[in-house]
Amino acid sequence: VSAPFEARAGHVYLVGAGPGDPGLLTLKAHDLLASCGCVLYDQLVDPGVLAFVRPEAERIAVGKVGHGPQTAQPWIEHLMIARARRGLAVVRLKGGCPTLFGRLGEEAMALRGAAIPYEIVPGVTSALAVPAYAGIPLTHRGLAASLAIVTGHCADRGQRPLRSLAHADTLVILMGARSLAEVVAELLAAGRPPDTPAAFLSRGTSRDQQAIRAPLVDLCRAVARSNAGAPAVIVVGGVAALGERLSWFRPDIDEFVGETGSIDRIVV
Ligand SMILES: C[S@@+](CC[C@H](N)C(=O)[O-])C[C@H]1O[C@@H](n2cnc3c(N)ncnc32)[C@H](O)[C@@H]1O
Repeated sequence: VSAPFEARAGHVYLVGAGPGDPGLLTLKAHDLLASCGCVLYDQLVDPGVLAFVRPEAERIAVGKVGHGPQTAQPWIEHLMIARARRGLAVVRLKGGCPTLFGRLGEEAMALRGAAIPYEIVPGVTSALAVPAYAGIPLTHRGLAASLAIVTGHCADRGQRPLRSLAHADTLVILMGARSLAEVVAELLAAGRPPDTPAAFLSRGTSRDQQAIRAPLVDLCRAVARSNAGAPAVIVVGGVAALGERLSWFRPDIDEFVGETGSIDRIVV
């Protein structure tokens, strides 16, 4: 059977596109993309994933670029509902997994309110996949048995989830690239030791992936000396150091910053 998960007319599918590498798309997501009549996609969705959409399907970019231009959320919800009412099979495609910092709840509520049938198709989240592509297991026997996934946005908004969760064995911080200095300061203020291993994982799972590892206290300086930027996943905790031994993906450059703060560039 070539496409067992065919998109149905008048339905909306809230679908995770995975973190970048098109190989991490689920079978269901692939089939829905290949059979839908309209796709509304986020800025973080890789072009390689959009390649699975039928040429005749309508494609609408509804990207939100970090702190940059935004497509208004009510407009996105309006488009989904209008296209479904027109009888199209609609895929709402989101980076990673829609359940995690993906405004899934708001969009599902809008669909429920409009009596549009919908399905939620989870995807491979960057919170797990990006560390994996940098050779970083998030738990490790004897090293890490607990994990917290936290937004880095809140450091500069007076909220304190980072502080309250700072002592999870492993912290995975999303949306923290631009507020990296505040994130680090918050964790140090919460008592996380300065020499805690940390990693800044930029554009993970793509050809442009960069992994920058440094003790927590040196992470900002190390990132500033590189050209790595958003989107990035930040990993803090003993497991971050394992990436040095276990990295396997073949990005262009992998950088390691040791205790002394020196950068070794390893071109693979
Ligand atoms: C609005 S959140 C959406 C997360 C998404 N729903 C998921 O499950 O991956 C966007 C954040 O995800 C992270 N992110 C997404 N894709 C990434 C990638 N390929 N490499 C590094 N970070 C990524 C970054 O922290 C970025 O700021």
